[in-house]
Amino acid sequence: MSKPFDISLESLVKPALPVDAGATQAPAQPTDGGKSFYIETFGCQMNAHDSEKVAGVLLARGYRPASSAAQADLMFYNTCSIREKAAQKVFSRLGEWRGEHTKIIGVLGCVAQQEGEEIFERAPWVRLVCGSASYRRLPELIDELESGGRRVTGLDLDTDETFETEITRRDNPIRAYVTIIEGCDYACSYCVVPHTRGPERSRPSDAVLNEARRLADAGYTEIQLLGQTVNSYHDPSPRGLSFVDLLRAVAAVDGIRRVRFTTSHPNDFTREIVEAIDDTPELCEHVHLPVQSGSNRVLRAMRRTYTREEYLEKISWIRAARRPINVTSDIIVGFPGETDDEFQETIGLLDAIGYDGVFSFIYSPRPNTTASSMSGAIPEPEKLRRLAYLQEHQRQIQMARNAALVGSTQEVLVDSRHAARGQWSGRTSSNRVVNFVSQRQNLLGEYARVRIERSGPNSLVGEHAVDTTGGRHGT
Ligand code: SAH
Ligand code: SF4
Ligand code: F3S
Repeated sequence: MSKPFDISLESLVKPALPVDAGATQAPAQPTDGGKSFYIETFGCQMNAHDSEKVAGVLLARGYRPASSAAQADLMFYNTCSIREKAAQKVFSRLGEWRGEHTKIIGVLGCVAQQEGEEIFERAPWVRLVCGSASYRRLPELIDELESGGRRVTGLDLDTDETFETEITRRDNPIRAYVTIIEGCDYACSYCVVPHTRGPERSRPSDAVLNEARRLADAGYTEIQLLGQTVNSYHDPSPRGLSFVDLLRAVAAVDGIRRVRFTTSHPNDFTREIVEAIDDTPELCEHVHLPVQSGSNRVLRAMRRTYTREEYLEKISWIRAARRPINVTSDIIVGFPGETDDEFQETIGLLDAIGYDGVFSFIYSPRPNTTASSMSGAIPEPEKLRRLAYLQEHQRQIQMARNAALVGSTQEVLVDSRHAARGQWSGRTSSNRVVNFVSQRQNLLGEYARVRIERSGPNSLVGEHAVDTTGGRHGT
């Protein structure tokens, strides 16, 4: 399974945090010799976190983690369908198990939801297909297979439930993910997510806050709130917290020093969010606010529901804040009918905003989306040319922005170590990567003050400042 963190370092962190037990139920102890599982995860942070929850469900049922796919009795692929390449990768992985009889092979996530029972046609050795809106049924589906069922599916999208688990296995001992909203009610013309993750469902604020408290008790100091449109959050419980109320409440949990949230939709991005960041030090100085295109015609065709001017106004609120808030974005190049002038409008927007990071993609036509039947497809080589041009342009912007930080001192939450380079690595509140040297033996999970000496387009390099280093709880 892909890991954001070198798990071998986990033992160095105090305390090691493999599972986050629910308030009411302790995990069943995995029994030696019991069945084992392995999960390989593709796609976004929502998927990465879903895999942590699925692992929790399996641990609670007595399964133990296998050290490799080959050794596992249960092999799950948690899949992504956002672009064609991602979906193809899943089928090539499944092909490696052709004719497999001893293992249970399961497909979860967005390709499962999108392709449904087609997967059994293409890979008859697969025995479970389940989309994220049906994960609450996983225990029952696994029971069915264990009692001799040949094939099971969970493909119901029409649900208002969220995926609550008794325990969650945490793969990252430094930063904990917390889902606050699932699904998506937008209908961007290029995007599969509303079809693969179902309608928008917010999680009751009590469940979110209880989880945040448990994580703080377990030693986590950084929490990342997750949702495809995280800032569309509306508390369904009688407390009726707004997104900003929830941000402030999570930030107020004892022991939590950093709160991040992703992904924000520009349409639901309010001044109140900027005000909350400004007056709440625990809220990180970073907003990921995907724009997709700088051209109003393309934005309309994408059905993004805002104009370039409206987006720029929101950016102006962020730039007027007292704290220096980083802004990052997603861009799609080569949307059907995008002219070179329209592409240049996107480049102009990058200049006007000065993003600190951009994830850029070439448009990929996806099944069941309205854009896939639009005329004006851009030839592949031209899409690639635009992508390379945009990435080089953005690289220059980031070089200049990062260079301005040389000489400053930054607080870094240390999350890994490059043994070969003798460097520690971590992130600033603004989500910049900082690599640095230190005399200290173990800094994982600590907040270190680092003097920045050099900069590149994607990271900063520095030296541990001798004056202070805050512990996990700011000691
Ligand atoms: N919910 C988030 C993004 C979800 S998908 C939002 O609305 O911002 C992550 C990114 O993948 C999107 O922001 C978009 O830039 C990209 N993406 C989505 N569908 C795509 C497609 N069909 N082709 C290329 N990129 C795509
Ligand atoms: Fe996809 Fe648009 Fe929903 Fe984001 S807001 S997940 S891009 S449909
Ligand atoms: Fe991919 Fe599904 Fe996430 S399509 S990006 S895994 S929501």
